[in-house]
Amino acid sequence: MELKRKKEYIDKIKSLAREKNAVIFAHYYTRPEIQEIADFIGDSLALAQQATRVQANILIMCGVHFMGETMKILCPDKKVLIPDMNAGCSLADSCKAEDLKQFIESQTQAADGEKPLVVSYVNTSADVKALTDIVVTSSNAKKIIDQLPKDAKIIFGPDHNLGSYINSVTGRQMILWNGACHVHSRFSLEALLKLKNENPGVEVLAHPECKAPILAQSDVIGSTQALLQHTIKSSAKRFIIATESGILFEMQRACPDKEFIPVPPEVTEGVGCSCNECEYMRLNTLEKVYECLLNESPEMQVNESTARKAVSSIQRMLQMS
Ligand code: 13P
Ligand code: SF4
Repeated sequence: MELKRKKEYIDKIKSLAREKNAVIFAHYYTRPEIQEIADFIGDSLALAQQATRVQANILIMCGVHFMGETMKILCPDKKVLIPDMNAGCSLADSCKAEDLKQFIESQTQAADGEKPLVVSYVNTSADVKALTDIVVTSSNAKKIIDQLPKDAKIIFGPDHNLGSYINSVTGRQMILWNGACHVHSRFSLEALLKLKNENPGVEVLAHPECKAPILAQSDVIGSTQALLQHTIKSSAKRFIIATESGILFEMQRACPDKEFIPVPPEVTEGVGCSCNECEYMRLNTLEKVYECLLNESPEMQVNESTARKAVSSIQRMLQMS
């Protein structure tokens, strides 16, 4: 978008947001211009926490569908808008509620009728959260799992990479769902090793949704917020980053004198894009934010009985974080 039009949109969005008492939230993976107009930028935990604290009539969630749903479940009296309802999540899609229900039943039978605790990553639909005992994010998964009884039988889903990582750092043997994020599971180990070779001593920062061989080569593993905080606090000047590339905008903004080197994905002929962007996050554009604020649509709605069941698993997370 040319600079003049971009500025016009930013001005229009800001004045409309003031007029309508709307607050704009953005995830770190959104386009730079979306992060620029946001009142609040955060990882999925911080976005959920902040949503419960703001005084506003309208909340606009620039992220993906499950983030808007989580916000609506936590703030049922507020109008929650999301700029594009097609902004889904491959990880959330890898766990359908009907399939999880069957899986829980089969694991309950295998445990002589004792129902395992169901812990779900926040990247899930409201229907999945309604079947869940405790929701976690990558920021608090270890902390929450550590608080559960040592002998608890736990089903963890949907991200297999995050679940394996949490098993390894907690010494648990959680039963893992076999889901994955298409962005984080395609980082190239070969490219990472080459980058490390070319940049000796440079710290590698990775999101726990990456596969185990990538995590094994990383110095810091954490949520988007944790990785950002590390780059701010660290005395190092250069970092290799294995997560969605949108975070580089905020890292560069917070640390203008530091250098961030993104790990490229494996190139698979004819499949997806050859970049490390989440195409769902990129569906949030300035035009769509403006239109959705102007028309107060699309509005996020969550079925009341689903929301009632889902809210306890999210609130449990907030209490245990
Ligand atoms: P964070 O919880 O680190 O924000 O991650 C959310 C996400 O969608 C990662 O792909
Ligand atoms: Fe979902 Fe992956 Fe996009 Fe995160 S990066 S929103 S997990 S598809």
